[in-house]
Amino acid sequence: MPTLEFKGKQYIYSHHHSVPFRELLVDSKKSLPASGNKPSLDDNLIIHGDNLHALKALMPHYAGKIKCIYIDPPYNTGNEGWCYNDNVNSPLMKQWLDKNANPVDKEDMQRHDKWLCMMYPRLKLLHELLADDGVIFVSIDDNEVHNLRAAMDDIFGEENFYSQVIIRANSRGQTYNQIAKTHEYVLLYAKTSEIDFGELNKDEENNDLNFSDKLGKYNVRELRNRNPKFGKHNRPNLFYPIFVNTNSADKDGFFPVSLTDSTNFLKVEPFNSVGKESCWRWGEDKSIKNIALDTQASNLVAKRKQDGGYLICEKYRKTTFKPKSIWDDNKFLTESGTVELNAMGIKEFQFPKPIGLIKQCIQLCTNDDDIILDSFAGSGTTAHAVLELNREDGGNRKFILVEMEDYADTTTAERVRRVINGVPTAKDDKLKAGLGGSFTFCELGKEISIEKIITGESLPDYGALARAFIYYVET
Ligand SMILES: C[S@@+](CC[C@H](N)C(=O)[O-])C[C@H]1O[C@@H](n2cnc3c(N)ncnc32)[C@H](O)[C@@H]1O
Repeated sequence: MPTLEFKGKQYIYSHHHSVPFRELLVDSKKSLPASGNKPSLDDNLIIHGDNLHALKALMPHYAGKIKCIYIDPPYNTGNEGWCYNDNVNSPLMKQWLDKNANPVDKEDMQRHDKWLCMMYPRLKLLHELLADDGVIFVSIDDNEVHNLRAAMDDIFGEENFYSQVIIRANSRGQTYNQIAKTHEYVLLYAKTSEIDFGELNKDEENNDLNFSDKLGKYNVRELRNRNPKFGKHNRPNLFYPIFVNTNSADKDGFFPVSLTDSTNFLKVEPFNSVGKESCWRWGEDKSIKNIALDTQASNLVAKRKQDGGYLICEKYRKTTFKPKSIWDDNKFLTESGTVELNAMGIKEFQFPKPIGLIKQCIQLCTNDDDIILDSFAGSGTTAHAVLELNREDGGNRKFILVEMEDYADTTTAERVRRVINGVPTAKDDKLKAGLGGSFTFCELGKEISIEKIITGESLPDYGALARAFIYYVET
């Protein structure tokens, strides 16, 4: 099997093991606890710091417990200003820390190596944090999608790849190259290959239940099995006549059918368009159970075709649907993310992801009490999506965000404060009133290093040492 090779791989392959362990230190002033409570590490968390260290700090509490990870790392476009700054013990990578080599720009011949060296240990830690039934979603574009996929195959296993979803992220195209780029991707991997993804609720835009009868909303699909592999020759029990009462169409133009009443009814059998015998999808028993004389209470009806013949149809009433691998709704456009963030009164952050995109990821793989982690948090869209979903379905999902820039307080946490407390100028009534919730803001403490403990150079307090010890023993 081909393997992923890149400059520096041998040094960072097990770098996640040597990242020093640090404590999470609660900053009460920047936290927003539920009324009457003190900030606690068991609450939603916003962590200010490099995610390599933050993820390590989360290990004692959260290894194997995160149900959904969504990350939106630097795409390595060459103009985002991201820097390689991991302290890996190799001359090559010490060179990469040099100011002249940072930020990583388009001319840097080692930019893909640097990006992989930055991502690899973080993905390893994310893999360890993911629950056995957990799923990771990674936003990315053409700059690194091929490298990211190879790295994820390495770390999560090729067999745990689920999808490379295409997102229509732009309406007009970002760069007017020969071909305007209007899409990006979300890669989906899971911890195991036996994940049951949830279905999505049909909303107004994608709702195809256009008719309604006494049993509720419905639409129809042909009862004939359109797969040419199946027919009377190998499914003789599925080839039987259904009789149509052609005299009494209901308000929507559907006719009653029967399996037994042939007087004055028209006989219809399953033939394909060129007159070849095919078969129904249901056996006779199932058809009988689904027929009512009143078409408004029946699940099997007939529809008149343009050529004067009749189509036997099943009514379906499903209110959910399985997601497809192309997400092209307007709610996934990057420009929607900007509009949503501006509506919160926050204008400084560029290209936040739209709430709808992250909400859809979370909906696919979480239940009420699950934990969602975003270790490249930016403006905090993931927390916004979690709080909105909880509000909509009464769930109690929890979020953990990590952001290394100083705007972790002024943008990331500030957005979450506004979502919780309400935005007086918001058009949406729920947002105006505030969605409720709480969080604890943390900084990273000093590293707990065995060498420094042994030499007495720095001694952690008893609690920190005990938690680090339990983590190492347990894992
Ligand atoms: C593309 S933005 C994410 C935007 C986010 N999805 C949103 O909707 O606002 C990437 C973010 O990751 C942060 N970041 C990059 N490297 C990081 C690291 N090593 N640790 C923590 N945060 C990091 C950047 O500062 C930036 O805010």
